[in-house]
Amino acid sequence: MKPPRKLHIKSYGCQMNVYDAQRMVDTLAPEGFVETSSVDDADLVILNTCHIREKASEKVYSELGRLRLVKDEAARNGRQMNIAVAGCVAQAEGDEIIRRAPAVDVVVGPQSYHHLPQLLAHAKRHGRALETEFPVEDKFGFLAPPKPAAIRARGISSFVTVQEGCDKFCTFCVVPYTRGAEVSRPVSKIVDDVRRLTENGVCEITLIGQNVNAYHGEGPEGRIWSLGNLLHHLAGLPGVMRLRYSTSHPRDVDETLIEAHRDLPALMPFVHLPVQSGSDRILAAMNRKHTADEYRRVIDRFRAVRQDIAFSSDFIVGFPGETEEDFAATLALVTQIGYAGAYSFKYSPRPGTPAADLRETVSAAEMDERLVRLQELIDSQQSAFNQAAIGSTVDVLFERAARNPGQIVGRTAYLQPAHVMASPDIIGKILPVTIESLERYSLLGKLAPSVGAPPAQAAPAQIIASSQMTSGA
Ligand code: 5AD
Ligand code: SF4
Repeated sequence: MKPPRKLHIKSYGCQMNVYDAQRMVDTLAPEGFVETSSVDDADLVILNTCHIREKASEKVYSELGRLRLVKDEAARNGRQMNIAVAGCVAQAEGDEIIRRAPAVDVVVGPQSYHHLPQLLAHAKRHGRALETEFPVEDKFGFLAPPKPAAIRARGISSFVTVQEGCDKFCTFCVVPYTRGAEVSRPVSKIVDDVRRLTENGVCEITLIGQNVNAYHGEGPEGRIWSLGNLLHHLAGLPGVMRLRYSTSHPRDVDETLIEAHRDLPALMPFVHLPVQSGSDRILAAMNRKHTADEYRRVIDRFRAVRQDIAFSSDFIVGFPGETEEDFAATLALVTQIGYAGAYSFKYSPRPGTPAADLRETVSAAEMDERLVRLQELIDSQQSAFNQAAIGSTVDVLFERAARNPGQIVGRTAYLQPAHVMASPDIIGKILPVTIESLERYSLLGKLAPSVGAPPAQAAPAQIIASSQMTSGA
């Protein structure tokens, strides 16, 4: 038998990339590849890249510079190392990568990574391979499913892609170009994936898509299902204890989604609903297709059916033409909504997007200053949200042993990490925890007696792990 080949994969950016990286590992497993955490002994290194902002995409070239040295060193030791660039930078700048980075053997866009084995074989025979087409066939039909052992090793919470691409064309955003048009996977395929996961210990499923609530997949009876329909169905499958979805667009919140939050206890009351700006003038320039008031009304619809629901958002400061008054409208919106947390970014012009041609740029100093002010406001809301959990008893889904010996860590409905001293037997269970204190972003508590009255839902409080972030919507 040939010795296994070692694969090191590094993902940047959103949770779709985290998911895609796992599917690349699954697809290369039948080729004899096993994952390694170190670059130095890898036979194949894949950079799964992000193009959403300039900083993210520039990282690729610096990383490739470092990798070239590792590849040269391997060659001196008589060992061949291959380098592949996948993800959205590969899609957007494939030719440039080939030109600028001679050490790269394979460039593969996000819609083609099911072709990785063939591309590697092609590179071996002919030198290098590039594929950034949007193939007509559905890549999901060709990807190897994860092996039970791989699912178990990845833990009790899993992403499942249900939708990819975006048709919204916000003027700042590369996603419609790098990920292509909106495509929804059929319900039966998603159900197969979820069943495979739950049969192997997964109990929390996060449905992901660049604009996940635009989901419109074919149902088993041939009709088109919405995300709300899909959530209703998945909530009834054995072993599905918690459901989440990300990232949503305010324009695509339909009644079935609101009803899902009303009717499904498994659907967590925590929604990432990016608004980007609180100024109608800027929202129009961004082509968001909604006003700040329309966004507020969407939030109200969720709150009307689920009082304990909490929200997070994304914001961009310094979009071209943003005045102090526009920015004040963003601060006012944040104050009104009261977020559990949010991501905020300085506007970064992306080549090929309409906003990149706008002249009225905001100075770097102004952007910095606005970002600090916005982040201070968001941080204060997030802290208040977390503090509010202290003294309450909340349901926690336990995930794994924590770093401190004897401690087990799980997450609340709002994705806050919660630590208790307990036996590892509780991993994979949802148990009530009385929260006693807050240490940085983690809740510390004690297992509450679970017999008797059902646990009270805590006042919301939350932290968003950076790995939970999506690009999109
Ligand atoms: N500049 C800054 N932030 C951006 N985002 C998307 N495109 C850009 C850009 N050109 C942010 C949006 C989006 C999040 C994933 O990234 O806030 O919701
Ligand atoms: Fe689509 Fe979201 Fe990008 Fe807008 S910001 S184009 S909705 S992915």
